Amino acid sequence: MTEKIIRKKKITRHGFSVLFVHWAVAISTFVLIFSGFAQMPLYKRYMLDRVPGLSWVSDYSVTLSIHYWAAALLIFAMVYHIVFHSMRRDFDMVPRRGDIRESVQIIMAVLGWAKEPENDKYLAEQRLAYLFIGFTLLILVVTGIIKVLKNLPYINFSEGFMLWITQFHNLGTILIIIGIVVHLGAFIFRENWPMLPGIFTGKIDMEYAKRRHSIWYDRVFAKKR
Ligand code: HEM
Ligand code: HEM
Repeated sequence: MTEKIIRKKKITRHGFSVLFVHWAVAISTFVLIFSGFAQMPLYKRYMLDRVPGLSWVSDYSVTLSIHYWAAALLIFAMVYHIVFHSMRRDFDMVPRRGDIRESVQIIMAVLGWAKEPENDKYLAEQRLAYLFIGFTLLILVVTGIIKVLKNLPYINFSEGFMLWITQFHNLGTILIIIGIVVHLGAFIFRENWPMLPGIFTGKIDMEYAKRRHSIWYDRVFAKKR
């Protein structure tokens, strides 16, 4: 019996820089959440440090140093992202007027209650997710840098000011966890699955791009003509 292997045609959606930034931000954020909670200090209380090989999770100097290294990676990736996209004048992910209304329409369409609008490279809800996650990370970076300065021996801030900074750092932590849960929750829906290979390999199925991201698809091919 002859078996036919049908290779699906792919379209390039992301280059190396986008993949690097996504995974540098994702990995550093996971590490920052883990090492940040270590400072609260949750893991001693819940005896995670009794697990063989995990005694370091309640060692303040170790987890603080991990927090600093992950913060440096996060800041590098964010600065690289802003410089890279500004230089290329590529603002595909910046929210646009009407994105809230369009997001509701897309969610209704996923549930089968409405017709999906024509989409550009990113869905309206992806642009809003980008704004939410980006803004929250910015709060964490600014308040984090102030907390680092406070830890230096020759810099002092008032107690009241530092209390506010810590409240905002903690609020940012809660918001980023919510953002990640919603972000990953989007992939419960089958309609969003074809985007998953793209964030690992940079390529997605061409038929999917044509059907769901028609504005972007037409633009890519108009350029090639
Ligand atoms: C296992 C973890 C993760 C997976 C599998 C994943 C997957 C994805 C995928 C498939 C996209 C869509 C890209 C496209 O449109 O082609 C995306 C976009 C994005 N991801 Fe992630 N991601 C993960 C973790 C994270 C984390 C931890 C963050 C931030 C802290 C993050 C931030 C973003 C942002 C800002 C976007 C663009 C907006 C959006 O599409 O919602 N991701 N991710
Ligand atoms: C996703 C990003 C981040 C998360 C989720 C996160 C989370 C946390 C948490 C939960 C704490 C412990 C509670 C507190 O003191 O407020 C903490 C402390 C701290 N974070 Fe972050 N953080 C993030 C990013 C950053 C960044 C970017 C920096 C530095 C530039 C930073 C610097 C610090 C410092 C200095 C402390 C206090 C350590 C101490 O003096 O005990 N954080 N972080």
